[in-house]
Amino acid sequence: MAKNNLKYLATVTDQQGFVTGFKDEQVIAFVKKFFKKNYKNFFYQNKQASVQLVDTTFKLLTKASQQKDNLIAFNQAVEEIIINVFKHNDKNFWYKQRYNYYKSVVKPASFLQIIEPKLNGKKILDFGTGKGYFSELLSLRGYQVSATDVIDQLSEDVTDIEFRLMPNNVMIPFDQREFDTAVVNTVFHHIEENDIKLIFGELSRVAKSLIVIEDNCFIKDLILDNNHHQTDLKHEFLVKLSEPQRLSACKIVDYYGNALAQGLYYIDFPFNFKSSAEWQKLAKQAGFTLTDQYTLNLSPKSLHTMFQTLFVFTNQAKTELIK
Ligand SMILES: C[S@@+](CC[C@H](N)C(=O)[O-])C[C@H]1O[C@@H](n2cnc3c(N)ncnc32)[C@H](O)[C@@H]1O
Repeated sequence: MAKNNLKYLATVTDQQGFVTGFKDEQVIAFVKKFFKKNYKNFFYQNKQASVQLVDTTFKLLTKASQQKDNLIAFNQAVEEIIINVFKHNDKNFWYKQRYNYYKSVVKPASFLQIIEPKLNGKKILDFGTGKGYFSELLSLRGYQVSATDVIDQLSEDVTDIEFRLMPNNVMIPFDQREFDTAVVNTVFHHIEENDIKLIFGELSRVAKSLIVIEDNCFIKDLILDNNHHQTDLKHEFLVKLSEPQRLSACKIVDYYGNALAQGLYYIDFPFNFKSSAEWQKLAKQAGFTLTDQYTLNLSPKSLHTMFQTLFVFTNQAKTELIK
């Protein structure tokens, strides 16, 4: 967690080119268009205000990225955005009200539609659960759900699951083969490279199968896995942006969705995006076998989610051991 004294930038340094990415007009134009399209659709009662919110946010961040001490300026801009633009201290602010509905109802329901048909068994671990809304929904559907995370951010509305805080960045505080399925929703790219292998090992220790949803900005996966309709945004992302620009766009969308929109500025942002082949390799090394994989469409219901890939793995070694 927070590894420098810039409160709002947790692990972000410009080594990853994150702040510099704000200087790329083409990337910023794409990301703004993406958010505005989603916001106009979802915040339909506050269309104009939601477009303005995106414009103000990017105006402040772009200006900060052009300052000499851009990390410090960027940190100050993020603080201003969190307090004055997204108004995280004002529970009644229109954005917060409707966004809470999105996080607690719309998003878990759309995850459920994707994940439930792939679930194996009733004992489920939600790894990197965040606020826990998806776990709660699974529990209401009759699954026996446990959840873990490196930070306890569980919502007070989540009451029907067992939550255990991880003792460190990698240890999963549950017993061997305790779960039929472990679900990992948009967590892996938040994990430092040094910890990834250990975490796959831990998931293999505790679960008999594994379902992963991960952001994917790699053209080879998105073009190969052409499971979705062509849209203007998809065309712009794949054809008009270069590979480094696509990566920059994914980082900005990820930071915006988590740190600014949700106010989770204290979680780690190593932006550890990988291709499908790289995730598959890590899973295989931990004893998992891939049984299904496809790319999810850019959804009109989604606010800050770019392309994602769903992976389903079974833990072959464990199944044989149990027999
Ligand atoms: C984008 S949020 C996703 C939350 C939730 N899975 C969802 O879909 O709403 C990423 C989550 O990963 C968690 N995380 C980051 N590093 C982690 C680690 N080493 N082990 C477990 N969770 C971690 C963060 O605390 C955060 O809750």
